[in-house]
Amino acid sequence: MEAIKFLAEKTGIPVPEDSQNDRIIRLKKEILEINKETARFYHSILRSNEGTDALNYLLDRGLSGKTIGKFGLGYAPDSWDRLYNYLSKKGFSDYALSSAFVVKPGGNKKYYDVFRNRIIFPIIDLRGNVIAFGGRILKGDGPKYLNSGDTPVFKKSNNLFALNLAKSSKQPLFILSEGYMDVISMHQAGFDNAVATLGTALTSQQARLINSYRNEVALCYDSDEAGQKATAKAIKIFEETDIKVKVISIPGAKDPDEFIKKNGAVRFKLIVDGSAGSTDYALGKIAEKYDLETPHGKLGFVNDFCKYIAEISSPVERDIYITRVSEKLQIDRGAVNEQVINLVKKHENRKKYIEKQDIKMYTDNIPSKNRDPNRAKYIKYALAEDMLMSMLIRNQDFWKKISDIKPENFITDFNREIYRIMYERLSEGKAIDINYLGTVLNDEQMSHISYILAKNSAVNGDLTLMEENIKTIKEFDPLMNPKAILESSPEELLSKIQKKRK
Ligand code: CTP
Ligand code: MN
Repeated sequence: MEAIKFLAEKTGIPVPEDSQNDRIIRLKKEILEINKETARFYHSILRSNEGTDALNYLLDRGLSGKTIGKFGLGYAPDSWDRLYNYLSKKGFSDYALSSAFVVKPGGNKKYYDVFRNRIIFPIIDLRGNVIAFGGRILKGDGPKYLNSGDTPVFKKSNNLFALNLAKSSKQPLFILSEGYMDVISMHQAGFDNAVATLGTALTSQQARLINSYRNEVALCYDSDEAGQKATAKAIKIFEETDIKVKVISIPGAKDPDEFIKKNGAVRFKLIVDGSAGSTDYALGKIAEKYDLETPHGKLGFVNDFCKYIAEISSPVERDIYITRVSEKLQIDRGAVNEQVINLVKKHENRKKYIEKQDIKMYTDNIPSKNRDPNRAKYIKYALAEDMLMSMLIRNQDFWKKISDIKPENFITDFNREIYRIMYERLSEGKAIDINYLGTVLNDEQMSHISYILAKNSAVNGDLTLMEENIKTIKEFDPLMNPKAILESSPEELLSKIQKKRK
């Protein structure tokens, strides 16, 4: 709690009362329980007589029983209160059920099921929790898809469908599409690296979430105009990250699902491998808008071009395109370059702002008591651990310097658990950022991360300080401290080690 108070004072964010935190933590647990029961309930109905039509629909669309099982698909029966009654009997309160968004309050103090006569797509997080649902209409009126609203355990804009599966794919890139069915078809066809947004346009948080797993993404949106617009928007959003973007155009089909059904997985692989780089794709699209034979058209193109190029993070790549375009249009390279540089500066400021927002996102989160009993006892070491972790998050180049500090070398239990997660991730050669951490750490750990990032914001890249922290941590451990080993007798060393174990 101290950490949160400190951060609250620094940032002016109000802190909820302790009891309220505990209540929210309990509620979150209950919602996850409700979601799990709901997913099971809908799945068992899909497998029962009542689910025959829904199951046939899915089989007709080419899904195998295995795929249906793998994604835990279900069927919400055509009833106003079957789920409500089922879960109420299990003892869940109306409040928890409506917080989970599986029921809604109606008139007369009654509750009704949100999903009725729909195919159910459970949305599962990286820890395997069911956090939300999408529901596709089977027949009748109403929106084609209905999705859970945001709940205490779910934010549409921060999650991706099938990320829980795609994260362990051996493929070096992710394929990002728009639809649940597209992702499921792709997985069934062997593209286990497909993910999708959840009924909204791609957000920066999702882009960064993808970036914490992969350095490359292939966009595979619908081939219609809406899909192409969404592609252009997504390309822009990925420019906030270092991710490399490719664009898969789907010839002769509306979406990847339809393409795979028509042409099979082998052809799909061909178009994935043959997809154009995003910059060429985007510049082609911009050029289509202008008549490059006229001065007016040239000017319009160059303005759009500069805006686009300025958001590419690699100066080398920017340079290549600036040279290419100025030669092709026969305009002054220096002038184009200057325009780009000005925009780059603006862009960098925006990036800083987004980073701040990231931290704020987690400080706004429900903090909880910091159950960290040995922190007070080892405060010097705890502070070194704090700083080391915050520097590592901001500066992953430091990893080489500290990879010989194992989680076991951490002195305080609470930090050790967090560091273990960071350590394992970095050992795999993958990046840690606050978005990634948000998916693997619990609230308590996450609020600690926010706290240490805020506290150490000024010392980001200070190598000397980093080395001092390393020294401090090593000094505690007699086995890592060469001086101590030289100066101590074997008996002394043994007793030090035994003391440390206590
Ligand atoms: N979507 C939504 N609400 C709608 C329509 C669509 O949330 N009313 C979201 C869903 O996540 C859906 C995605 O947008 O998966 C893409 O929509 P669409 O292309 O219409 O559906 P498909 O995924 O292609 O589904 P299907 O093939 O079953 O028609
Ligand atoms: Mn479709």
